[in-house]
Amino acid sequence: NTIYLKDYQKPDYLISKTELTIEIFDECTRVSSRLHINKNHEGESKDLILNGENLSFISLKCVGEESIAYDLSDKTLSVTPKRDDFILEIVNEVDPKNNKALEGLYQSGDIYCTQNEPEGFRKICYYLDRSDVMSVFTTRIEADKVMFPRLLSNGNLVDSGAMPEERHYAVWEDPFPKPCYLFALVAGDLAKVEDKFITKSGRSIPLQIFVDHGNEDRCDHALESLKKSMKWDEDRFGLEYDLDLYMIVAVDAFNMGAMENKGLNIFNSTCALANPETATDANFFRIESIIAHEYFHNWTGNRVTCRDWFQLTLKEGLTVFRDQEFSADLNSRAVCRIEDVRALRDSQFVEDAGPNAHPIKPSSYMEINNFYTPTVYEKGAEVIRMIHTMIGEDNFQLGMKKYFDLFDGQAVATEDFVHSMEVASGRDFKQFKRWYSQSGTPIIKVDSDFDQEADTYTLTFTQKLKNVSHKAYHLPVKLGLLSSAGEELELIMQGKSYGEETVVELHTESQSFVFEGIKEKPVASLFRGFSAPIILDMETTREELAFLLSYDSDSFNRYEAGQRLAKLEIESLSQALKSNKVPQVDHLVLDAFSKLLRSANADEAFKALAFSVPSLVSITEQQKEFSPGVAQEAREILAHALAEANEDYLSEHYNRYSTSDAYVFNAVNMGLRSFKNMCLAYLLKLDKSEYVSLAQDQYDTSANLTDRFAALLALLQTQTKARDEALEHFYDTWEDDAIVINKWFAAQASSPKSANVQLIQSLEKVSAFDIQNPNKVRCLYGAFAANLTQFHKEDGSGYSLIANKIIELNSFNPQIAAGLSKAFKKFGALKGEQKDLMKQALETILEVDNLSPDVYEIVSKTLKV
Ligand code: ARG
Ligand code: ZN
Repeated sequence: NTIYLKDYQKPDYLISKTELTIEIFDECTRVSSRLHINKNHEGESKDLILNGENLSFISLKCVGEESIAYDLSDKTLSVTPKRDDFILEIVNEVDPKNNKALEGLYQSGDIYCTQNEPEGFRKICYYLDRSDVMSVFTTRIEADKVMFPRLLSNGNLVDSGAMPEERHYAVWEDPFPKPCYLFALVAGDLAKVEDKFITKSGRSIPLQIFVDHGNEDRCDHALESLKKSMKWDEDRFGLEYDLDLYMIVAVDAFNMGAMENKGLNIFNSTCALANPETATDANFFRIESIIAHEYFHNWTGNRVTCRDWFQLTLKEGLTVFRDQEFSADLNSRAVCRIEDVRALRDSQFVEDAGPNAHPIKPSSYMEINNFYTPTVYEKGAEVIRMIHTMIGEDNFQLGMKKYFDLFDGQAVATEDFVHSMEVASGRDFKQFKRWYSQSGTPIIKVDSDFDQEADTYTLTFTQKLKNVSHKAYHLPVKLGLLSSAGEELELIMQGKSYGEETVVELHTESQSFVFEGIKEKPVASLFRGFSAPIILDMETTREELAFLLSYDSDSFNRYEAGQRLAKLEIESLSQALKSNKVPQVDHLVLDAFSKLLRSANADEAFKALAFSVPSLVSITEQQKEFSPGVAQEAREILAHALAEANEDYLSEHYNRYSTSDAYVFNAVNMGLRSFKNMCLAYLLKLDKSEYVSLAQDQYDTSANLTDRFAALLALLQTQTKARDEALEHFYDTWEDDAIVINKWFAAQASSPKSANVQLIQSLEKVSAFDIQNPNKVRCLYGAFAANLTQFHKEDGSGYSLIANKIIELNSFNPQIAAGLSKAFKKFGALKGEQKDLMKQALETILEVDNLSPDVYEIVSKTLKV
């Protein structure tokens, strides 16, 4: 059952006003809706077809009519209207307590909450559940006063009061028309932590966070992050908050990270709650960016929304771009960029090379829930970033203004966004739009030619596309040229100077640029800041890479040169291992990295990233034959050699940066902690008891979770008593803490050495585990499936374990089951018996009765490659 973009048709009816009454009772929840419906098509009247799933229908009335003809099916309620404009009154019941799919209205702990994007609202009541139907909502909630003291929905609270039988009610009004996917309701016994923000026009907005009692001391960071986001969006984008109240609710059972419901964001508690004892720097950073992301959606997503779900990247790509810029403005821009690109390559590049590859704007889908992907989000953000790179900040901001001038209050398409940018900048992005419709990561081959006689240096770029039917991309290349002394050369083309760094644009399959006045062969630094989401294919010698690692003025490319050098070395070490030779680490590589470690023109945060061995994923993606075991062994050999060559420096700097200062979250401190913990992790590769004691000490004495957890991770690399003791202590301390204990599962499940199937089977038996909670599924099974050396064990035990879990999850939470199904993405790269074993596992899944479309789509597409 495939849905196609080309089949889009505007809705036959619109709903101008939606009045809901939601009565929560112990046994069930009753939803009464009053829908003000207007005809939206020419000619003879068609039936109104409302969506509705898992609903118990009670009654239907058309106001002012004696009767109305209707037809009820599994997934629809069809009504034959007698007029163009009419009001329907529909009553139905839902069962939130048994809703384990966590879509629509469901229970998380003792709290009732909703998740409606993309198509969850149809599980609450009969409706036109599509994003181009925008309506003004009024919501009345009624429930038991003791069990549900808080009754929340979108917009402003306009009435509340007591009712008979210990019940009470609240009425909410949201003045902004919105699609139903932005509707939210929360009811429960929650603590409230409050702050306020004064907008640029002087309005005071109460900011409220609702959490389980006992978590009040974990809200400060989210509130601070929210205030920073509100200020930043005013300062950089000129955008002010529009409602009179902003609420955030944290719940433990949530399929995704968070949801931007108008005025009432709902968050996975892991993405909102933090204090120094229960969250790491990485958690703090991520919370700041997700709070920002959801806040930024208020304009890019809510005020201007998507016409249909094929347009998802319209709001997600743009909002990710905005949250990345926010993080970069608030923290270290260089570090943020490196981390964003790292994440892009380790997830999106892999997706784009695998069986579930799709363009950022897919042309078809079976289940839209499967398309909340790194491609739609992160590659989508890269596409926006390329526009920004080509037209510059000022024109980009003019384009944003144009976008809101033209489309505020509407549901639009990605073309409408690009159009705004074209109008504002005077540029033509017709060809650029291919980024929206072609999948796959383009490979850009670069050849260089230095002409000593003519004093010219020529760079020729050739695009290698995924598919013969694909056409050349339009993309920006930010570049510079370095002299052998490490100086940036002036860039002169056709007699014109472009300074020391410029952006050139590619349009055709092959294109050359000639730089003049070049006296000696330069070293090219291309795609600075990762100016396009491509794979660069250019012969660069080890010497040149070592040179760039030292001298490139672009910190991303400096990092990149180191990673490329390390990958070349890992490739050589792998070859040695495969042919049973003694692997020897190249001195040039060790020297280059040792020099970086001691470099005066790099900060600790940068060094912590640049002095790291490339991820296993990024290495295996480039292997001719997928062999994670060999790659991991080679990584370890290189890491060990780096540790050995720099032992004194690492131990001295570990001690220098080990302080007992109180934890403060900011970019500088975060960088110092990550550097210190990198030193520790390297030292523990050396198998010396003194370093094990260091880690043990740090574990025992740290007052913050960043250092404590880093010590645990370092110890996990060893086979020591200290390791076992720390693991046991961590469990005993955090067993009852839904958020912190997940790190204990994830750390063990990701261990390349020790996370085997037996371990996973023993971890799922501990009392803190619960397969109904998506966070736990991700931390145990998700982490294990991403653990390449263990998941791909020769005996296929990893495959059958994960297949069985997918089958179990499919019966109650298809979305989470489908997410886990993406673990089989390397199927096309496998050979022989290994491939047969994975095939068997995939086929067992397909044989299941009642297989959800979610899982079916992922698994069937995987088997097709
Ligand atoms: N719009 C949300 C966000 O990006 C994500 C919601 C995804 N929901 C889903 N069912 N896949 O913040
Ligand atoms: Zn989003």
